[in-house]
Amino acid sequence: MSQNILVTGGAGFIGSHTVVALAESGFNPIIIDDFSNSEPSVLAGLRNILGRDIPCYAQDCNQFSLLRSIIRDHQISGVIHFAAFKAVGESMEEPLAYYRNNLGSLITLIDAMLAEGITNLIFSSSCTVYGNPDNPPVTELTPVKPATSVYGNTKQIGEEIIRDVCAAKPLKAISLRYFNPVGAHPSAEIGELPRGIPNNLVPYVTQTAAGLRKQLTIFGGDYPTTDGTCIRDYIHVMDLAEAHVAALQFSFQQKESVYYDTFNLGSGQGNSVLELVHQFEKISKKPLPYQIGPRREGDVVAVWADVQKSKELLGWSTRRSLEEALRDAWRWQQKFG
Ligand code: WQD
Repeated sequence: MSQNILVTGGAGFIGSHTVVALAESGFNPIIIDDFSNSEPSVLAGLRNILGRDIPCYAQDCNQFSLLRSIIRDHQISGVIHFAAFKAVGESMEEPLAYYRNNLGSLITLIDAMLAEGITNLIFSSSCTVYGNPDNPPVTELTPVKPATSVYGNTKQIGEEIIRDVCAAKPLKAISLRYFNPVGAHPSAEIGELPRGIPNNLVPYVTQTAAGLRKQLTIFGGDYPTTDGTCIRDYIHVMDLAEAHVAALQFSFQQKESVYYDTFNLGSGQGNSVLELVHQFEKISKKPLPYQIGPRREGDVVAVWADVQKSKELLGWSTRRSLEEALRDAWRWQQKFG
């Protein structure tokens, strides 16, 4: 019988693509999402891709008794925890909301899992824990640096909470450190749905190309990099989704009653902002209006992943190129006209 997996934040960008990957790997995903940063229309997109409705609780995760009853009623055997606020800038303006939501929901979730004897947890972490690394690529042993944002601190503290619980209670957990997720499902049924002005590069690029934004401002052209713009490790969201399935399967294989580890999820290569923009122009077949503006506070100069550990232990590595991710992102954007 296929296993039921609770996906918190499963209507979000990475969560919804992971729901597809889970279902396509024979798991039964169940979503809990309060739609504070996602749209109910995602559920229709999932139905069109998977040919069936995915059960969804339109609820906040910070509810112990609700989580316990969902785990019990659906005989959940593992949890993938995406639900969190994730806007770096907003986190600096509303620190308490970020600590309460991101850490409160994590603690409540683990409490409910332990109360129901569920031992497998996959946690959505971020490469932001590495701060500004001295010598990229970063491995999982690269020192974690003091967070440069409240959002980043909630990811660091979240990892520490899970690590400490795994040392005291029967919990098998994996923290996945994402680099920069981009793209969309090739069907264009689901994709990134930024609210308001996009913080992230790729949705800003596609909205500019679609004429919804006047021009892209590249934040800084005087960095010590090949072309003066920042370098990042962009990973197709479907590759990222499939990594969650690999991590969950790896976690189920752990025979010890306690286990904790972290894995980098990236392509293993760095691309500058300008390289990404020019690659996108080849796909859209038109010049992208942009200007070079001032640096953005808190931006890391260059970070990309060493993904050897994920390859060796999870048997996972990216299969899709940045070009494919940009092509899928553009197809998704064009759906909105
Ligand atoms: C990428 C590059 C910008 C917008 C953030 C979070 C990280 C993770 C991914 C959640 C940078 C430049 C961007 C624009 C630009 N989120 N840029 N003009 O900052 O690497 O990571 O999203 O886990 O935690 O910090 O991603 O897409 O915002 O920026 O020039 O309009 O694009 O300066 O160099 P970032 P990003």
